[in-house]
Amino acid sequence: MRTLRDISALRETLGEHRRRGQRIGLVPTMGNLHAGHLALVETARRHADVVVATVFVNPLQFGPNEDLDAYPRTLAEDQEQLEAAGCDLLFTPSVATLYPRGVNEQTRVCVPAVSEGLCGGSRPGHFDGVSTVVSILFNLVQPDVACFGEKDYQQLAVIRKLVDDLHFPIEIVGVPIVRAEDGLALSSRNGYLDEAERATAPELQRTLAALRTSLEAGEPIETTLEAGLARLRASGFVPDYLELRATDLGPVSAATRDAVLLAAARLGKTRLIDNLTLTLP
Ligand code: PAJ
Repeated sequence: MRTLRDISALRETLGEHRRRGQRIGLVPTMGNLHAGHLALVETARRHADVVVATVFVNPLQFGPNEDLDAYPRTLAEDQEQLEAAGCDLLFTPSVATLYPRGVNEQTRVCVPAVSEGLCGGSRPGHFDGVSTVVSILFNLVQPDVACFGEKDYQQLAVIRKLVDDLHFPIEIVGVPIVRAEDGLALSSRNGYLDEAERATAPELQRTLAALRTSLEAGEPIETTLEAGLARLRASGFVPDYLELRATDLGPVSAATRDAVLLAAARLGKTRLIDNLTLTLP
């Protein structure tokens, strides 16, 4: 696996692959890789001849009081894992390379409607930062296919709309959530949890699973969600939101069958997110 930090080297290398008629797959990440990220690399391998992963902790998508500085940076371990997973190229640019005019002067991409509410409500500007960096990466790599995790359900919806609205000729592949044995969705932020919090964390997924059972049995939505919030609070979480939406993230109506439960909750200083799809009766 080659690691590249410069745009010119990336373009040159990808140009060679493209001239050979090879399909290019992209897996954007912020590093500190785990089995969830590696599932994206494996999926990309099935859809493309050449897999490009990116590791870039994107300052544009962190709020002023968020964990940009604390975010784990583990490039050497990431390189080893990517190489073992069969990644061909790693692009890991500096902030100055991607944003040469500085983050304040940076042209932004905003995807309305789907970026609002849920994580967009608790993290203002977050999805504009994601949409901007992903647009830059799409433009630099010009992949045929790009893989994103269903763990970040709203992010995947934002990316799908971005690709549609900006007419990027890129196939977006969603990859199911990879979980620890106790059900906790793998996340780079799980490393912030102390031992007691780590023991509590799977309660987020267990709560969603219990709510799914109730909702699929026809229990009323509002009281079921209230009970879910109470259960999370009783376990020590401070919920940001717990919502039921149609799978396209529109509001649930009487006609909605395919729905998704989405939650974000803080446990100590760690913010965890999770989701579960279900079928309403
Ligand atoms: P990051 O949090 O590093 O995640 C990179 C990709 O891995 C995302 O598509 C995310 O949904 C996926 N992923 C993370 N944990 C997963 C899990 N347990 N199972 C399946 N997929 C998982 O998401 C970002 O970075 C950034 O916002 C990015 C898209 C790279 C833009 O900066």
